[in-house]
Amino acid sequence: RTVEVPVICVDGPTASGKGTLTIEVARRLGYHYLDSGSLYRVTGIALRRAGLAPDAEHEARIAEIAHALPLCFSEGKVLLAGEDVSDAIRTEAAGMDASRVSTLPGVRTALVDLQRSFRKLPGLVADGRDMGTVIFPDAKLKVFLTASAEHRAERRHKQLISKGISTTLDSLRADLEARDLRDSSRSVAPLKPAQDARLLDNSHQTVEQSVGQVLHWWQEIQPFK
Ligand code: DC
Repeated sequence: RTVEVPVICVDGPTASGKGTLTIEVARRLGYHYLDSGSLYRVTGIALRRAGLAPDAEHEARIAEIAHALPLCFSEGKVLLAGEDVSDAIRTEAAGMDASRVSTLPGVRTALVDLQRSFRKLPGLVADGRDMGTVIFPDAKLKVFLTASAEHRAERRHKQLISKGISTTLDSLRADLEARDLRDSSRSVAPLKPAQDARLLDNSHQTVEQSVGQVLHWWQEIQPFK
């Protein structure tokens, strides 16, 4: 009999705090962690290096690149063919490229098995846009995390400033809204809550409060031993 590996999905729009929440929930439970957006981001970097633009005309080649990514996650770092791209994938430009490649159905299909391979005991917390709808539809807990565009732009602004990258709130908010629109209107696996997702709006919550809420839901579903 195969053991069912528990999965918690955290889906939601750009800069809703999914990453922070997911990492902390995974840490508290001692579970593995999947940042699925990083796979689209790395694909974006890899295709630029191959001299391609993230456009539908190159879909087949981009899908091949995504399928064979020489990718390795090690000590919190993302390595592409051995090179540390952890910072390179976090730029706004890399986020835009990721959002564009992620609209290509062939690329999404190419990344399915890689994402599912993260599901290992004792459990997984997965962060993305379609974790609950497409990748792990049988997950027992699906959280759809939101925050107002205003709060998300402010958070992203603080993050970038702390890294010494200068931007304006207005341009960030415009970028976020453009990305939200593309992510939720694409035909394949659009950003939307799974039917059985629980909505969590963290506009007025601390990280600790959101983490507490998710752990509380998990405790109800799968009581800790
Ligand atoms: O979560 P993120 O900002 O790192 O994601 C970057 C882009 O990747 C996002 O704009 C849409 C895409 N993405 C996706 O389509 N499906 C996922 N599961 C995760 C990310």
